[in-house]
Amino acid sequence: MISRFAKSLGLIVFAIFLLSTLAMIHPPSRSYMEPWSGQIFGEGGVEKMLHDKVFVQPPIISGVKGGVIMPKLGNATAKASLGRATWKLLHTTTLRYPEHPTQDEREALSSYFHLSSRLYPCGECAAEFQQLLAKYPPQTSSRKAASLWLCAVHNQVNERLHKPEFDCAHLSNEYDCGCGDAPITATDDAADPMDLEDNDSKDDVTGVDMIRGGR
Ligand SMILES: *[C@@H]1O[C@H](CO)[C@@H](O)[C@H](O)[C@H]1NC(C)=O
Ligand SMILES: *[C@@H]1O[C@H](CO)[C@@H](O)[C@H](O)[C@H]1NC(C)=O
Repeated sequence: MISRFAKSLGLIVFAIFLLSTLAMIHPPSRSYMEPWSGQIFGEGGVEKMLHDKVFVQPPIISGVKGGVIMPKLGNATAKASLGRATWKLLHTTTLRYPEHPTQDEREALSSYFHLSSRLYPCGECAAEFQQLLAKYPPQTSSRKAASLWLCAVHNQVNERLHKPEFDCAHLSNEYDCGCGDAPITATDDAADPMDLEDNDSKDDVTGVDMIRGGR
């Protein structure tokens, strides 16, 4: 009889101890959720600052802006094939860039172009790219803005070299490089005016001389 009473007492004491411990861990919150709006209110009915924008200072990454790093390349054949591949890479990059980029993504694209202008393997070509970036800072607000900006930069080079211009206005319609959000599919090279690698017969229209560092 006594042992049964002791067991019950022990159990009750333990239950009280457990409950008080839980209460210590989770003190009763005076915040509540407004059932209609789902807004959360804290003590005194003051709305919690849950949705306040947190302004995070972007990290200052050294090395993004600065002078050309690589030495002169010289070899015209190597420069030309590097140039064709680079235009392909840059145009494809802007055409797959988000349509609604975040601030972080915008800074990434801008940094990407500035870093490219430092690290491009052909030093004399990189110097020209740097001049272009200084005159025409990268447009990063959307895929369209970035694509048109790069097209315009490319055309600046074409104009200086008295080459035919790309029609930037019809870039999105006509330049189907398979660069949409869908996975890249095999495209007809002949139908792609900017698919320029591996064919130096198209150098005249690519402004590849800029990448060659030619003036
Ligand atoms: C120039 O580069 C091309 C392609 O990379 C290479 O085949 C050729 O041997 C190089 N010429 C010289 C003189 O180094
Ligand atoms: C290069 O392009 C030209 C004109 O578009 C074409 O006639 C030629 O066959 C192409 N050459 C190669 C190797 O693809």
